[in-house]
Amino acid sequence: MSDSSILAIDFGTTNSYFCKCPADQISPVGVDFGSGRDGIPTAILYRQNKKPLVGNPALHEYGESSNEERKDYRLCTQFKPDITTSEDAAKNAEDFLRTVVEQSQRQHIVLEPARSEVIIGVPSEAEKSFRAKLTEIAEAAGYGRVKLLDEPKGALLSHLWHKDFSPDEALRGVLIVDFGGGTCDFAFLRSLEECLSWGDMELGGRLFDDLFFQWLLEQNAGAMKKIEKAGDTYYVHSYLCREVKEFFSLTMVRDRSESVNKSVGQYGSVRDMSWTTFIQKARAYNPSRVFAGYLQGVGLESDRLLGKNDPIDLIEWFRTSLTQGLADKNIDTGDISRVILAGGSSQWPFVSDVISESLGLDASKLMRSDRPYAVISEGLAIFSPLQKKFEKTRSRLRTELPEFCRAKVRSLVHRTTDAYVVDVATDIILELFDKRIRPVLLEYKTTGGSLAELKKSVSSKAKSFEPELKKIVESRMETLSMGLSEQVRDVLTRWIESHGLSIGDAQINQGRRISIGGDAIGSELPDLYGGIMDAVGWFVVGTATSIGAILCGGAGTAILISGPIGLIGGAVLALVIAYLTVRQGKEKAAKLAENWDAPAWVIKRALTNSKIHKARQVFRSQLEERLRQETLILQDEFEARIRKITELQIEGLSEITQL
Ligand SMILES: Nc1ncnc2c1ncn2[C@@H]1O[C@H](COP(=O)(O)OP(=O)(O)OP(=O)(O)O)[C@@H](O)[C@H]1O
Ligand SMILES: [Mg+2]
Repeated sequence: MSDSSILAIDFGTTNSYFCKCPADQISPVGVDFGSGRDGIPTAILYRQNKKPLVGNPALHEYGESSNEERKDYRLCTQFKPDITTSEDAAKNAEDFLRTVVEQSQRQHIVLEPARSEVIIGVPSEAEKSFRAKLTEIAEAAGYGRVKLLDEPKGALLSHLWHKDFSPDEALRGVLIVDFGGGTCDFAFLRSLEECLSWGDMELGGRLFDDLFFQWLLEQNAGAMKKIEKAGDTYYVHSYLCREVKEFFSLTMVRDRSESVNKSVGQYGSVRDMSWTTFIQKARAYNPSRVFAGYLQGVGLESDRLLGKNDPIDLIEWFRTSLTQGLADKNIDTGDISRVILAGGSSQWPFVSDVISESLGLDASKLMRSDRPYAVISEGLAIFSPLQKKFEKTRSRLRTELPEFCRAKVRSLVHRTTDAYVVDVATDIILELFDKRIRPVLLEYKTTGGSLAELKKSVSSKAKSFEPELKKIVESRMETLSMGLSEQVRDVLTRWIESHGLSIGDAQINQGRRISIGGDAIGSELPDLYGGIMDAVGWFVVGTATSIGAILCGGAGTAILISGPIGLIGGAVLALVIAYLTVRQGKEKAAKLAENWDAPAWVIKRALTNSKIHKARQVFRSQLEERLRQETLILQDEFEARIRKITELQIEGLSEITQL
């Protein structure tokens, strides 16, 4: 196994599809085995003394051979559903897979399972034993250790990749109906991780092949004898009658009022096939002796098909498979935003009728791709490269996150809190210094007085300002909270997008719990936007509280007294001491200075306008400095919180939203 390429296989009952994809690129290419379109019939023709043939060459060779030649031939088809119950079927599957590779080599088709990462699809309701058997078969056929993936996931991925619906719809809920040749598989997917699946390993297109086989026998007396004589039973049943069925079904899609004929090789024809007759037959189906014999031969134990019970209503069987599954899995039909029709049998017109009716869903919500047969293998092929690419990007995001937070988030928070600090300081200067302190200083200049008195009245002005201070701090919080959450989210989104990922709207809503049948099973992913809002809210409140505390808890007064008033006081004191020294001597002067009732002319000389202006500036810068210090501690914690929610968000990014 190498990592350089992927080989995905949708191994079907009727047809198998191989799709190649480079491991590091999302560019799947279906393998054309020479028929001009993807895929190969799941058929193997064993020939005496010759290598077996697979696919169209096998069917063709058998179809064209004479009765004599057929004695040396054994054609095997539709063995896939029976690999766990029948050793023959398992052997056919192994030989088929091996021969596909050998035959391709002869056709110069590069198919190198041994050198690729091989992924094989399985119906999602396949049991452990089926999975184990298939793994064993593939390994024995030379495919190495294969990885099994649920087929519906393939269909979903491929449709998403083709942008047939939005990732948002995929997250809301998509029902995939894969009605194939041997099985009928339902899967309800909401994100790639959450997959509820159910189905029926017995309900498949081959029952309808059998219906047309019986229709043929009914209208052509003696045909059975002829077929048996030619040893052609298997071929007529599983191939020619299937062609009749598909022809009829396609005609009915166009116009259900038509009535058509189709010949079946040399054995006659089915005539006057109409929708009404078909429905009558489909509502009262009994397996033919031939088909029942085959099923018993491969070891199928089915009460329904082999119990010789009442006739089976095939349409109802399909309906109950669908509705019973929805009920069992507690899926509310309202949670289904899209239905993908996969598998050949879902082309039956009754399929979309039943689905629309049962789900109450408009037919426009049912979709079938332009290449329905290719979707599963294509989706399986891109699954792994997509995951790898996605994982790489995620790990890069994880590595870059700390640096991103330091460089981008921090500088953003810095800028925003700085603006907040400046705003708060400006308000305080205007309201406290200019409106309250300055008049005190000016009055001091005209009346004179002691420095101690001045300090007292400044302090009391500051104290009475407390309630207003709180208001300033709080009203300015808005500046902080308004811009910050938007901006943090913007830089985060831009950063994630620069890595080719996106946090879509769906992601933002992820935190919302989604309920199925009343059980809350929504993902626990934190919602990025909400997370940022929370962190910002916490930060803003924290900032306001701690700023409020230093300003109103007395420290504000302290800043005022030690800073600007200290500056003014220093100037006053110097003059007063000089004046007193002359009269009282140096020592006494120093003692008296603080409480000396200075005359106005002394104060006037010390308290110049430029001193007051200087004091204002000092107050401002000291105030800003303290406020900044206070927010710095909170910024670290804020950054840590943002990092944490971003980390969770990166973990929670889903492949789906990236398609
Ligand atoms: N137009 C049609 N109408 C009805 N049935 C169709 C039509 N075209 C193909 N089918 C049937 O679809 C079946 C094949 O579908 P598909 O290739 O999806 O099955 P598969 O993958 O081989 O089988 P499975 O998934 O069950 O193992 C066959 O039974 C085929 O006859
Ligand atoms: Mg299939």
